[in-house]
Amino acid sequence: MKLLPLFSLPLYTLAQVQQPAHFNPSNIGPLSVSFSGTGCPQGSVAASISPSRDVVTLSFDRFAVYYGPGYSTAAKQRNCGVKFSFNVTGETGWQFVPVETTFHGYAALDKGVTAQMYAAFLDSYTEGVSSTKVVLEGGKDLSAAGDVFTKSVNVVPWPPTIPTSRCVSGNMSYNMGTDVTMNLRVAVMSRNSTTTGSFFGEDESGERNIFTVQVRLLWKECKNLGGFWG
Ligand SMILES: *[C@@H]1O[C@H](CO)[C@@H](O)[C@H](O)[C@H]1NC(C)=O
Ligand SMILES: *[C@@H]1O[C@H](CO)[C@@H](O)[C@H](O)[C@H]1NC(C)=O
Ligand SMILES: *[C@@H]1O[C@H](CO)[C@@H](O)[C@H](O)[C@H]1NC(C)=O
Repeated sequence: MKLLPLFSLPLYTLAQVQQPAHFNPSNIGPLSVSFSGTGCPQGSVAASISPSRDVVTLSFDRFAVYYGPGYSTAAKQRNCGVKFSFNVTGETGWQFVPVETTFHGYAALDKGVTAQMYAAFLDSYTEGVSSTKVVLEGGKDLSAAGDVFTKSVNVVPWPPTIPTSRCVSGNMSYNMGTDVTMNLRVAVMSRNSTTTGSFFGEDESGERNIFTVQVRLLWKECKNLGGFWG
């Protein structure tokens, strides 16, 4: 499986999110991410954050999902838990909310086969949950021969809470990550067991076998450090 250079993909199609006027990206420290799951074995994920600190890009090198004769049940679904963490410098406290996701990849689906991409965001403090879902249908959105797809969807909150990172500023006396977890799952399914579907299969060039997920963050100033939405 080849890994494409991160910024060669034309992925910045997400709608612009208006950050607060006094938001200063240089106050947001390096991105730290950790991964675990069947779709993201060690060393198979590249992660980066845009200079404007509002788009996290995750490139999965081995997030392959297959449906069809000869494939195991385990192959039909893969998942990955991704935990985001940042440091914040300066006296102003900041926290973020994931607001939009873009899924980009390559899949070949027979007619009647669907590929479902699902991401749930959670924060452990408020126990807030939000999610995004994209369903691609073989014979409609994608062909049996394979196509590249790019789909952007808003993150939908599940009331009453919205997953929000913990409020952090640089002059806190201890390190507290702004952690929010994204649970990503891809499943390929069909009612017809003789059909096949390959999510993130290889195209002729062998160059497109990568699954990329971008998450757009909305930053918000906060005051009750260590707490939630101020
Ligand atoms: C945040 O800063 C602390 C203390 O300097 C450091 O130990 C930690 O690794 C940093 N975290 C990130 C996500 O950069
Ligand atoms: C940061 O530290 C300054 C001075 O040390 C203090 O006045 C300010 O209240 C602190 N900010 C926060 C958000 O705690
Ligand atoms: C199942 O899929 C195969 C291959 O695409 C097709 O020939 C067959 O007609 C399908 N069966 C049903 C019941 O749709």
